[in-house]
Amino acid sequence: MSLVYPSSHPLVFEKLAALRSIETRPPEFRRLVRSLAQLLAFEATADLPTREVTVTTPLGAATCRVLSDPVLIVPILRAGLGMADGILDLIPDAQVWHVGLKRDETTLLPAEYYRRLPEQLHKATVLVVDPMLATAGSAVHACELIRKLGPCRLKFLALIAAPEGVEHFSRMMPDVPIHVGVIDERLNEVGYIYPGLGDAGDRQFATFE
Ligand code: PRP
Ligand code: URA
Repeated sequence: MSLVYPSSHPLVFEKLAALRSIETRPPEFRRLVRSLAQLLAFEATADLPTREVTVTTPLGAATCRVLSDPVLIVPILRAGLGMADGILDLIPDAQVWHVGLKRDETTLLPAEYYRRLPEQLHKATVLVVDPMLATAGSAVHACELIRKLGPCRLKFLALIAAPEGVEHFSRMMPDVPIHVGVIDERLNEVGYIYPGLGDAGDRQFATFE
């Protein structure tokens, strides 16, 4: 469990409290997902490599540092989309690739319905994002696909995780750090994170039936 980084930032606590509330409607829920993704990405990107560049200011030459490797964001559809939007505000030059997964409600296994990933990776940082790490089946599936594309600096970002999912992910992907807002109590009997926030996709996209 050494590569699991739950946030200790008070702003993350504050925004998670609002995100969880049953009173929070989709417009505010989306804003919170974006802000939380930015706060977590800020923490997750603290060790990215940089290179020196010279920038001409109105007064002269300034020695500056910029990211040296490309950053790729891979949201797991649907619920990861809001996180990707938020992180793009922080890293506007990032590439965004997609993996579409839907968890079977009975088996809890992810079924893949969409994949648009680069053919290969070279010296890249890849941030796989999904608000919920429940059993971790979806997260492991997405990271396995990326691993096949070549060596990269792979990280997984989630807003809320279940201890069972953290355990499973750490066992399957021991060298992939998890940056997470909070680790909750447990999975409930139907595979939802408890107390969690309910269905992150439905709450973002107002698809309540
Ligand atoms: C949710 C969530 C994760 C997955 C987590 O998506 O956004 O992708 O379940 O569960 P797991 O850790 O047990 O795999 P869902 O499959 O409901 O699809 P959606 O984003 O379209 O709502
Ligand atoms: N997917 C969600 O949206 N919420 C959960 O608690 C588990 C899976």
